[in-house]
Amino acid sequence: MKSAEIRKKFLSYFEERGHTVVPSSSLIPAGDPTLMFVNAGMVPFKDLFLGKEQRSYTRAASCQRCLRVSGKHNDLEEVGYSRRHQTFFEMLGNFSFGDYFKEEAIEFAWEFLTKELAMDPKVLHPTIFEDDDEAAELWQKIAGFPPSKIVRLGAEDNFWSMGDTGPCGPDSEIFYDRTGKCLKDGSDCPITCDCERWWEFWNLVFMQYDRSADGTLTPLAQKGIDTGMGLDRLTSLLQGADSNYENDLFVPLIERVQQLTGDREITLERRPAYRAIADHSRAMTFLIADGVLPSNEGRGYVLRRILRRASYQGRLLGLTKPFLTTICDTVIEIMGDAYPIVRESESRIMDAVADEEERFLQTLESGLTRLEQMISGMSIPLTIPMEIKPAPSGVLRGEDAFKLYDTFGFPIDLTRKALEARGWRLDEEGFERALEEQRERGRAALGQERGQDEALLAAARGLDATRFVGYDALDAGATVVALFTSSGRASEAREGDEVQVVLDASPFYAEGGGQVGDSGHIAGANGDVAIENVRRVGHGVFVHHGRVERGRIAEGETVRAEVDPVARQNTMRNHTATHLLHKALRVVLGPQAKQAGSLVAPDRLRFDFFHNKPLTEDELHQTERIVREQVLLDRSVRIEVMPLQEALATNADAMFDEKYGEEARVVSVSNGDVFSRELCGGTHCHHTGQVGAFVIVEQRSVGAGVRRVEALTGERAYAWFDERRKVIDELSHEYNVPVAELPERLRALQERAREAPKAAAPSNLPDPQEVIARAEQRNGALVIIDRVDAADAESLRDFGDELRRRVKSAAIVLGTVFDDKPSVIVMLTPDRIEAGLHAGKLAQQIGKQMGAGGGGRPDVATAGGRDASGLDAGLALARELLAGKTN
Ligand code: SER
Repeated sequence: MKSAEIRKKFLSYFEERGHTVVPSSSLIPAGDPTLMFVNAGMVPFKDLFLGKEQRSYTRAASCQRCLRVSGKHNDLEEVGYSRRHQTFFEMLGNFSFGDYFKEEAIEFAWEFLTKELAMDPKVLHPTIFEDDDEAAELWQKIAGFPPSKIVRLGAEDNFWSMGDTGPCGPDSEIFYDRTGKCLKDGSDCPITCDCERWWEFWNLVFMQYDRSADGTLTPLAQKGIDTGMGLDRLTSLLQGADSNYENDLFVPLIERVQQLTGDREITLERRPAYRAIADHSRAMTFLIADGVLPSNEGRGYVLRRILRRASYQGRLLGLTKPFLTTICDTVIEIMGDAYPIVRESESRIMDAVADEEERFLQTLESGLTRLEQMISGMSIPLTIPMEIKPAPSGVLRGEDAFKLYDTFGFPIDLTRKALEARGWRLDEEGFERALEEQRERGRAALGQERGQDEALLAAARGLDATRFVGYDALDAGATVVALFTSSGRASEAREGDEVQVVLDASPFYAEGGGQVGDSGHIAGANGDVAIENVRRVGHGVFVHHGRVERGRIAEGETVRAEVDPVARQNTMRNHTATHLLHKALRVVLGPQAKQAGSLVAPDRLRFDFFHNKPLTEDELHQTERIVREQVLLDRSVRIEVMPLQEALATNADAMFDEKYGEEARVVSVSNGDVFSRELCGGTHCHHTGQVGAFVIVEQRSVGAGVRRVEALTGERAYAWFDERRKVIDELSHEYNVPVAELPERLRALQERAREAPKAAAPSNLPDPQEVIARAEQRNGALVIIDRVDAADAESLRDFGDELRRRVKSAAIVLGTVFDDKPSVIVMLTPDRIEAGLHAGKLAQQIGKQMGAGGGGRPDVATAGGRDASGLDAGLALARELLAGKTN
């Protein structure tokens, strides 16, 4: 049975039993700061388990893409060595949110395996949490297992948690007996044996608790079921493959690598590298498809490490050229039907992988050079921004190895290998220490961020979600549900207090989808609070952040909440313009120029999109022109709310990391024919004409493959034009020329200015032959130290070059004064450098003598001084320095 068929069979089995099939969400958890990547099928349903979100269904099934490379579930180090661990994998799961519990979960699993897939019941073995008698009885009843076959294990094995916080509960795992006997010694080994006889492949979690940061388990209001079965493992078992790398999801990848290396057989020694390349290529393909790009922090850093590891494994197999795009191409072939997103993102994936692998290969090369220099004790040129002090004993300091590894991305295994070859070794302890220190810094930063969020989350827990009434109204009556000041929950806040106000209903837009929170006022009977920002926390509680400006405000009070209408209207203009811009960029640059992030504020809009080079003037203007055309057409902006699936079927643009519920809000710009259609919760103009004016004021790169533009609309755009007009009018007055002739006039002035100084102070250089004739000669080499009259640094240098061309062996030091300052050039012929001289060092000393500084290359260097009188002292020092050294 092919993996595609197994995937389908699982989903239809559960669909037939009342489960809603939910498509896999992105690898980036939506709106969940506690998790870096989706690491299990249940993650997108976290809030349903916690009772914070309701949907029309209480049973669901999915095939979810997962990544286990960080946090609580991390299998990175196993990859290559284990037959059944991967970083990226697909998890099949069925879920119940307060619907069925243990009994049905076990029944479904048993029926699916033994009837639907016709597995032999004899090879299946369950484990349960040590004191879960209920599960034991159920397995006995449903599958007829004697108690002796139901293995009870501790929390380590049979209690599942999503992460440090979140839903968790005891579980029951189903194992497959692949060989009937121990692979190490042929005995009848227990299920806990690590010989690979037993494969755990389906985990049924009985969700019962919510774990908080301090480890407390709070029982969930409604129990749930979360099951997870690795598609790869199941496929291997059904296909009789001895490892996941031998099933139909992986074979084409391994074979592709073999084509590149030319290996007919894969030896045991080379096997881990093959597997790692296959696994990592899947991970990078999906990470990039889901919007991550290599960088030095967060998710981008994880992607960078995975990609570099894979590329390095290729070097170990003897591949010298970049090869990863070839493997990713095969990943897209295998996975494209099940995950159209990888096909749609193909060009972005290829560009990002090619670019990063190229960078890595350069790093490898320079890393090896650095290491070589360090091992052979050569001094490290100053241009390399790293100082490595070789220890005399032939031990590389841990912190240096760490720097190579961390700053330069040079794999530590390679450092070890290179050292080994030279009889050196690595200070492993020091390296570990440096690594741990860095992890500690990471944890501290994350902890701080989490702490703040936790405090807000805790504050919002137990409060009802705020009703948002601000799409239609800018002010509304409301009740103060809760108040928080710097000292925690408060019944009242007074003038001057910083305060967070929770209302039952609010016209304020809470920060989200790139749009900033609204500002405005909350007015009560006894006081007034100025609101600066509004955030949505937990399951939709709006926290209005501000300061009591007058009087006081109290919990339970009835208030009037008023959004600042001008700021809101400006934000609306910018949000609608953002949608127009998004579409316009794709018209001009191609469909890959999709949104990578955005900020919609009252005063400007900022838009990040995937594109790997600067926009030309022409592209920028075309983009502006398309947006302006839509504004002038005054198209209507239509808002519709519809089921998410329906919305996605209309090809509406959705963002990678936005959280979408069952219902989607679709914003379309159209007059019959649709110009743009996006899933969006933001506030918009009714007609595009309200955007008023639009201008792009800046573009730049914000990382590999992503560009950013900033644009203005409405009054801000007018102000920007006015400001420029003012400057131009001033210039036009000043030079007394019409605006249209300004560029030409300025060019002419510039031209004249360039020529002016030369005309004012021409060089008065001597005949080169004369200078050579009056130079001293020492042991066959000339020492030319002279004061000449050059107009600028360039002519001084030209003159020096001329001298150097005419002599075979010389040390040349020429000084001049222009702009009232001394300037010296030092030049050496190659033999002088070999004799131990260094122009840069000489210039440094001469510059110092003249009261300023100098430096440069071994063959040419320059020095400057503070005032004209210093030149003689500088040249005198040169004479002294060269007298001692040229013999
Ligand atoms: N969440 C559980 C796991 O990942 C079951 O889906 O194993």
